[in-house]
Amino acid sequence: MPNFFSSWRGRLVENLTGTVLEIGVGGGENLRYYRRAQVIHAIEPHAERAREAESVAAAVDHGIPVYVRVAPAEELPYADAMFDVVVSSLVFCSVTDQDRALAEIERVLRPQGVLWMVEHVRPKTPILAQLATAVTPHWRKIAHNCHLDRPTLSVLTQRGWRVDVLRRRGVFVKLRATR
Ligand SMILES: C[S@@+](CC[C@H](N)C(=O)[O-])C[C@H]1O[C@@H](n2cnc3c(N)ncnc32)[C@H](O)[C@@H]1O
Repeated sequence: MPNFFSSWRGRLVENLTGTVLEIGVGGGENLRYYRRAQVIHAIEPHAERAREAESVAAAVDHGIPVYVRVAPAEELPYADAMFDVVVSSLVFCSVTDQDRALAEIERVLRPQGVLWMVEHVRPKTPILAQLATAVTPHWRKIAHNCHLDRPTLSVLTQRGWRVDVLRRRGVFVKLRATR
């Protein structure tokens, strides 16, 4: 992962407040960076990685309660409008169904809630986008379903999200989205 990404990751979550849901928490890579959240709920579809995230949560000393559950973003095990904030870092390249995952995020996020993402997305340059599409069938087999050509920004806007891209470096974007 590029070096700049570590700073994006930390700055993504350190100032988030309220009830937070992190989807695809993986091995808990972001958990140590939270500072101000009231409570963190996290989902991860792979049970082993979810256990890693729980171990990280037990070891960090920020004092914020963290609850990890095994579930995919497409079927979030939470009540409607439960969260102030949803976080996704490097997950929307791998979800099985971006529309279903977003529909679930829309359901669990309260009105005026915010979705924060750091993701890699389909390259802007057409030739690179074509290359990404050509490579993706092979890449996703060795990289846990990671797609190099996901049009995440346009999927968000087509679903009615207002998207502010706060940083962009190559195919990596950091964004804030509201509805
Ligand atoms: C590249 S890792 C990123 C992990 C962590 N979020 C980070 O920032 O390092 C991608 C994660 O997305 C998870 N993932 C894959 N498909 C998913 C889905 N349908 N719903 C939620 N998470 C998913 C994977 O299990 C993996 O933990």
